[in-house]
Amino acid sequence: MSATTDADYVRVCGLDELPATGAAKAEIEGRVVSIIRAEDGSVHCIDDECTHGRVSLSEGEVEGCEIECWLHGSRFNLVTGKPTGLPATVPVVVHSVRVTDGEVLVALADEAPRTV
Ligand code: FES
Repeated sequence: MSATTDADYVRVCGLDELPATGAAKAEIEGRVVSIIRAEDGSVHCIDDECTHGRVSLSEGEVEGCEIECWLHGSRFNLVTGKPTGLPATVPVVVHSVRVTDGEVLVALADEAPRTV
């Protein structure tokens, strides 16, 4: 695994393109991710696919610093990717985010998606 450098960050969207609290789907270098603004205003990026089933997490509900899958209700912590509510037991991959001058930049994790 290599360390993340400035060169790894790519612009994904403007901060003003995200909902006040909620998620938006994006694609970075062919990988589908969710860009999520939590209730505290922090911005996060995780793989978009729920680790319990092949559905899009960006269509789920954001509450606090978690997102809830719309299909069976699994919840994932946006900082760690760990499931905080069943039925999912496998963490979702978390990517690094920077917000600079109103732009959301993401560096993809050096880790394959955790598919079911
Ligand atoms: S598909 Fe997400 S909780 Fe089942």
